[in-house]
Amino acid sequence: MINPILVATDICKTYVDANQSVEILHSVNLSVDQGETIAIVGASGSGKSTLLHIISTLDTPTSGQVLFNGQSLLSLSSKQQAKFRNAELGFVYQFHHLLPEFNATENVAMPCLIAGMSKESSQKRAKALLDRVGLSHRLTHKPQQLSGGERQRVAIARAMVNKPKIIMADEPTGNLDKESSEEILGLIQDINKTDNTSFVIVTHDNELAKQMDKTFTLVSGKVVTL
Ligand SMILES: Nc1ncnc2c1ncn2[C@@H]1O[C@H](COP(=O)(O)OP(=O)(O)O)[C@@H](O)[C@H]1O
Ligand SMILES: [Mg+2]
Repeated sequence: MINPILVATDICKTYVDANQSVEILHSVNLSVDQGETIAIVGASGSGKSTLLHIISTLDTPTSGQVLFNGQSLLSLSSKQQAKFRNAELGFVYQFHHLLPEFNATENVAMPCLIAGMSKESSQKRAKALLDRVGLSHRLTHKPQQLSGGERQRVAIARAMVNKPKIIMADEPTGNLDKESSEEILGLIQDINKTDNTSFVIVTHDNELAKQMDKTFTLVSGKVVTL
C-alpha cells in the first residue's frame, strides 16, 4: 500500500474584514501519494491558489490539518516551514518568478545555495538540470533574454534542483502558447516518471488537467473529485 506523502484534512479558510466574513474553503480534504499527479481546477476565485498555498505552508488555514510524512506542517515555526519548503517542495508559478538580475544557471542554483550547498556544486547541478529541460544553450541568458516557454523551463529546473518530493504549480501553462504548453506537459510527465516526483497543479488548461492521475474540482469552497 502506498502511504500518502501529504494529507490535508478539513481545511477551512475564512477571510474576515470589518463588515463580513467570507468562507473560501469549507472542509476540504486532499491527499497526495508519492509519484501521484493531481490537478486542482475550478472557476476563477474558487480558492485554488489559496488551497495550494495552504498545503505548501505559504498560507495558514482558519482550521484543519496538513501532514507531510505524518508530521504536522502547521506546528512548525516559520523558519522550519521555510526549510521544509526548500528541501521538500518545488514551486512553479504562472509568471515564472525568476530573479531578473540573475542568469538561468544562477536562478536554478539559488535553492541549493539557500540550502547551504557550495557555489560550485550548485552551479553544476543547475547546469545538468538546464540541460535536461533542453536549455544547455541558454545557461548565461537572463530571464528577459528568454522566451516565455524557455523561462518556464528554467522555472521547472529551479523547482527540481533540491530533488523535491512534490512540485506545486499554479497555472504553469497559463501564460504560454499551445506548443510551449505541450513542452511543459512533456517535461512534467518526464520528471514524474523518471524521478517519481509528485505534482499538484492548479490549472485552467484542460489538456494538462486530463493528463493528471486525479482531478480535484473546487465548487463553492468544497472539493468534488471527478
Ligand atoms: N487576503 C485576502 N483577503 C480577502 N479575500 C481574499 C484574500 N485572498 C484571496 N481572497 C479571496 O479568496 C477567493 C479565492 O482566491 P484564490 O485562492 O486566489 O482563487 P483562485 O486561485 O481559484 O482564482 C477570492 O474570492 C479572493 O478574492
Ligand atoms: Mg489562483
